[in-house]
Amino acid sequence: MKGIILAGGTGTRLLPLTKVTNKHCLAVFKKPMIYYPLETLVNAGIKDVLIVTGGNSPGDFLKLLGNGKEFGLKELHYTYQEGSGGIAEALGLAEDFADNGKVAVILGDNIFEDNISQAVKDFEKQKLGAKLFLKKVPDPERFGVAEIKGKKIINIEEKPKKPKSNYAVTGLYMYNGHVFDVIKTLKPSQRGELEITDVNNFYIKQETATYEVIKGFWSDAGTFESLLRASNLVAAKAKLKT
Ligand code: G1P
Repeated sequence: MKGIILAGGTGTRLLPLTKVTNKHCLAVFKKPMIYYPLETLVNAGIKDVLIVTGGNSPGDFLKLLGNGKEFGLKELHYTYQEGSGGIAEALGLAEDFADNGKVAVILGDNIFEDNISQAVKDFEKQKLGAKLFLKKVPDPERFGVAEIKGKKIINIEEKPKKPKSNYAVTGLYMYNGHVFDVIKTLKPSQRGELEITDVNNFYIKQETATYEVIKGFWSDAGTFESLLRASNLVAAKAKLKT
């Protein structure tokens, strides 16, 4: 399975930090943010990785990661998202790279403790659709929120005022090659973006979306509070190991 890291957007929620570099190059404890999603993919055995960059300093990704040698990769692929058209728009830029195959997609500002090797293996066997990853959180209104009935997600609401559960939809998604056709049918949301939640709801309506609940810690890092929280979680884990 190929891997795609979505690291576009302009990072306005982290101004003035994002004036001189991209959000995904900022520090989360001892490493630049983007190291974590890249390691999540590489540690699951994914060797073919595309980074969708964006913003004002896309050259910083190349300076930082080069061809991915430090991560044991032969090469890294890059593309560029102009403006801030949303996560689904950024994913749409990966169509040629995906070449009709299944993809593991991770947001460049999401930090996962779990090793996702088994999930990758499971999705390789899954015949249709998508696989989503949920985490119970105290502040679901900040995320896409899953409404669950029995063993199925029946709907996802993007940043609902009255969340129907405490399960946030994390920024890790696995899709079949059909995802690019789904993206082509999307219309911009109220915030003017093509929403990944609309992609996920397509698969949910089709009843081809499976899900798992993440066991270890998970945090986004796109706001000052979550950036600090992500650093603290990683630091606490590092301390446990020493
Ligand atoms: C995005 C998604 C949201 C998801 C979150 C995870 O939100 O739209 O569904 O829960 O990432 O980090 P954004 O960071 O664009 O506000």
